Amino acid sequence: MSADREKLIALAREICTRAHAPYSGIQVGAAIRAASGAVYGGTNIENAAYPIGNCAEASAIAAGVAAEGAHFRIAETAVWAVDRDGQSIAISPCGGCRQRIREFVVDGNVSIHFPWHGGKVRSASIEDLLPFAFTLP
Ligand code: THU
Repeated sequence: MSADREKLIALAREICTRAHAPYSGIQVGAAIRAASGAVYGGTNIENAAYPIGNCAEASAIAAGVAAEGAHFRIAETAVWAVDRDGQSIAISPCGGCRQRIREFVVDGNVSIHFPWHGGKVRSASIEDLLPFAFTLP
């Protein structure tokens, strides 16, 4: 496991414990290593008006764009999730977040790491997670 991958996973794990997720009970953290070398994190933020809650990946991207503006690009990312008991659960980025990540990746090979079944960490490229992504001509 590369140092970058381990660092991102550790950060996503730490951040997810601070998520605001009282409704689903699923706390998600996302950690992004930008092309600049800076690392940004975010959590899911739920709301009593359910549809306006946002995903951890969106929060982390917002932090990156706020810091770097138009230069922000994603070089690698990790997500993590725990349940109400603090137990890690298997997740991968939702469809909307795959599209959000795709918007900012340096290329289709960018890796996304996520917790999988059996205590494993899986890694997949954004191209594998979102083939035939929507882009504007
Ligand atoms: N969630 C994320 O933060 N990221 C994803 O990629 C999938 C889902 C959040 C949204 C909601 O707060 C909770 O997980 C349960 O769906």
